[in-house]
Amino acid sequence: MKPRLHGRATACANIALAKYWGKSPLGNNLTATPSLSLTLDGLTTRTEVEFDASLSADRVVLNGVELSREEATRVSAVLDKLRARTPLTLFAHVRSLNTFPTAAGLASSASGFAALVLAASKALDLGLDAPEVSRLAREASASAARSVYGGYVELEREAVAATPLCSGAHFPLGMAVAVVEAGPKPVGSTSGMLHTARTSPYYQTWVAHAPDVYSRVKRAVLERDFATLADAVEHSALLMHSTMITSQPSVLYWKAGTVELLHAIVTRRKQGHPEAFTMDAGPNVKVLTPLEHLPQTAEFLRSVPGVRQVLSVTPGRGASLLSLDGPLEQAHEHPWLEGDPDS
Ligand code: DP6
Repeated sequence: MKPRLHGRATACANIALAKYWGKSPLGNNLTATPSLSLTLDGLTTRTEVEFDASLSADRVVLNGVELSREEATRVSAVLDKLRARTPLTLFAHVRSLNTFPTAAGLASSASGFAALVLAASKALDLGLDAPEVSRLAREASASAARSVYGGYVELEREAVAATPLCSGAHFPLGMAVAVVEAGPKPVGSTSGMLHTARTSPYYQTWVAHAPDVYSRVKRAVLERDFATLADAVEHSALLMHSTMITSQPSVLYWKAGTVELLHAIVTRRKQGHPEAFTMDAGPNVKVLTPLEHLPQTAEFLRSVPGVRQVLSVTPGRGASLLSLDGPLEQAHEHPWLEGDPDS
């Protein structure tokens, strides 16, 4: 009997504290800005890939819904790169489950592509190391490069792969995600950033300032300095959103509830609450706070009118392989990254 070409993996999402927004002119999905993120448990994807001689095209099922061939293009592009490393020409069944709302600005592409690359490379027995998985994940979606590692992770400008900075335990922060609006975002991040690069007069200013904000974020994480981190994290998000908002036509992800929350967090910080906001390509607001303060932050966010749901998430581990027996939902994790304190 032929061995099954079957692999399973899981990865956590990450939220950037210093944002990536913009592609390098060098191409190949290299980033124009450096970024630094925290990998977050509780926002995870589980993916399984099985190559199968009976298929005439890849079949991708996301949260129980089969994607059209067009929707599956980015997944097939990843599989093509892995297939090219083998003599095989088989198509694959891909099944992926998210534990959080897909495409609500909650970074599902990051955990999704990190898990996909690891699961597919395992199915093909390619024996890729973490930098290679991170590189392939970055080519699919740059933020996914960071989800390969746990804790605080950086992706330098135009770097081929992400690198781990320090463990989540080094500076134990959590995030309360205030869902203002669930559902698909009107403009995806890839097309949104290409559009802002083309049409916002502030885009070059953002690219020029991003390394400075990133250095401030990095120093504050390493020095466990929450006050400095809060200022730098908010500045990075606001600089990025300014370039989006000033593109033509404007890419305005914010809703009334988003702005309410920004005001509320600014007020609360003045009152002594260690909290900082950040937003990605969507209306939801993520509030960074020390782990011991997380329940209080989540409770406050739940009391804000217009907030539909609050998810509390804590530092997460790097991507890992999953056992192949039993249902995907219950498969056990196998350590995969060596030397990663968060894996
Ligand atoms: C706002 O990684 O989704 O979340 O590389 O085009 O797939 P592509 O973009 P993606 O962009 C993430 C943008 C962000 C900021 C960040 O995560 O750094």
